[in-house]
Amino acid sequence: MTPREIWRSSAVRMAAMFATLSALAVTFVFIAVYFEIRSELYERLRVRTQSLHDTFLTVARSTGAEGLERVITDRAKAPGIDGGIYLLVRDDGHFLAGNIDPYPTFSGWSFIEPSELGAEERFEFDERFLSRWSRLPDGEMLLVGLSDDSVEEAREALVGGIVFGVVATILITAALAAWLAVKSQRRIRSIGATLEDYAQGQLDTRVALAGAEDDLDQVAARINTTLDRMEELVESLRQVSADIAHELKTPIGRLRQRLDVALAEANSVSEFRAANAQAIELIDQIVGTFEALLRIAQIESGTRRARFSRVSLNAVLSNIVEIYGPVAADAGQEILDQLTDAPCELAGDQELLTQMFANLLENAIHHCPSGSSIVVRLERNGDVAEASICDDGPGIPDHERDKVVRRLYRLEKSRSTPGTGLGLSLVQAVADLHGAPLVLGDNEPGLMASLRFRLSP
Ligand SMILES: Nc1ncnc2c1ncn2[C@@H]1O[C@H](COP(=O)(O)OP(=O)(O)O)[C@@H](O)[C@H]1O
Ligand SMILES: [Mg+2]
Repeated sequence: MTPREIWRSSAVRMAAMFATLSALAVTFVFIAVYFEIRSELYERLRVRTQSLHDTFLTVARSTGAEGLERVITDRAKAPGIDGGIYLLVRDDGHFLAGNIDPYPTFSGWSFIEPSELGAEERFEFDERFLSRWSRLPDGEMLLVGLSDDSVEEAREALVGGIVFGVVATILITAALAAWLAVKSQRRIRSIGATLEDYAQGQLDTRVALAGAEDDLDQVAARINTTLDRMEELVESLRQVSADIAHELKTPIGRLRQRLDVALAEANSVSEFRAANAQAIELIDQIVGTFEALLRIAQIESGTRRARFSRVSLNAVLSNIVEIYGPVAADAGQEILDQLTDAPCELAGDQELLTQMFANLLENAIHHCPSGSSIVVRLERNGDVAEASICDDGPGIPDHERDKVVRRLYRLEKSRSTPGTGLGLSLVQAVADLHGAPLVLGDNEPGLMASLRFRLSP
């Protein structure tokens, strides 16, 4: 991965933002802690200086200035006993005892720098003394100061901690970011590679899921569903093209043969006329197939949904029964009307619904022998209406029921009868357009074709 690609990864950007924010938060917390601890340490130093000072005052009060002079001289002899500075001077400034000379003058509290004491080599170069002057009862002046060395050491330790904390935070989050980026980038690449293979024609390739059920897996699963669906569509398109070519080859071959025969054998105008009429019949059949195919394609495109209006299933079905009654009677069959009175209305395309039920009834009349009876039923259950056309003819075997709705598919035994094999494809297309599942079932004996419509209030 190039640095540019790394920076483009959303995981890296998020992690960088996260690292910056946490570094800022850590810095802020450390600075707050630093100032708090520092002021607490100075306060303790002040208390210690004050209490030493008070001890000396007590000594001065009980033993007089001479007593204190001795104490301070003893202390001064042991330099560094507590890293402090002590000085006792007379009110005229005459040195009595102590471990510093010269000395600065001020009143009350102050910080004294080593440079003011003329003995810098004795002290750490950055140490200072928190000091206090005060006057003894007899007029002598007492100076006591304690080094802020311990405060400085704590300060250095704190600063070290801050730097370490911030650097560690940045390093850890950066490492985490890199790991995440590499991981997600790898998966995104595998998705890209799969799509590329698919585009190259490998229709059975699918994105491998990581099993993490995270957002990337969800996207991958959606992509796979889309690829499944597209593969199905491509497959059915291939199938249909092959079927159409195959289906049209026969009548066109026959047409050519008739014209050939007429050319070779017809001798009179009337014989040519007869051949011509047969040719036109075959051409009409071919045109009819094309028209039906185009119609189904148009229905499947869904554009007719824009023309949906209120349709009464009761009216559509009773019309159909009325129209096909005589046709069935001619074929020696009867149609039994079992339509509910409960109104079944929905948003739909009346013309297509009529054609759909007509196709189902025509099939029943066409594919059943004389003497069969056909039941047209409409039932309403809550906001669902079930319409079914049932016959007691030969029916469609279980394993063929999925196939008969394909374009141009006809059962072996029906191939010799007139028909295009497009009737049930149109039924399926109209059912899909209306969101109504079509079920082809066994009427024991015969075929039961039923559709479930969701009614609109
Ligand atoms: N009611 C039925 N009873 C028995 N077989 C049927 C019935 N309806 C359809 N079929 C079978 O399903 C096939 C497909 O039907 P369809 O698409 O309408 O084409 P077509 O009626 O033009 O043959 C028919 O060829 C037939 O074999
Ligand atoms: Mg048919």
